[in-house]
Amino acid sequence: MAQSPETILIASDHAGFELKEKLEAELLSLGYAVLDLGPDSDASADYADYAHPLAERVSNGEANRGVLLCGTGLGMSYTANRYPHVRAAIAWTPEIAALAREHNDANVLVLPARFVGDDEGRAILKAWLDTPFAGGRHARRVAKIERDEHREEDSRSHSMNDPHD
Ligand code: RB5
Repeated sequence: MAQSPETILIASDHAGFELKEKLEAELLSLGYAVLDLGPDSDASADYADYAHPLAERVSNGEANRGVLLCGTGLGMSYTANRYPHVRAAIAWTPEIAALAREHNDANVLVLPARFVGDDEGRAILKAWLDTPFAGGRHARRVAKIERDEHREEDSRSHSMNDPHD
């Protein structure tokens, strides 16, 4: 039986809308399924309203990977990176996208749509899709991203149990 294609989530604000549409077409032509979480026009939109639903789905394992676009990439990345297990990387060259996969296991690609052209955007997307995580020492480093959070939780619950601990 043929394997069903991986679904890639995609969302933007108004600044990223045009490139979103182009990258969605690119994903489909590469054989991926796409779940477009909006918006459906370039009318003014607040990036967080679109980053939250996408990041939540990646964080809880409903989807493996997603693509976010806004003007600079910053608002989208700030929002998405608040979710556990989400590693949202802004990439403005294919090399950065490849390193974000290879070293940082980026599961969300964030494009600064006002600063990359269509062809560059497609090349960045392709590099991110095609580059595997290198693992090894990078796996140890990536694991420490989440561990820090748990360590903080641990120390908080410790001090609640015993203020002198
Ligand atoms: C919208 O003008 C712009 O602020 C937004 O797309 C993004 O760049 C924010 O981080």
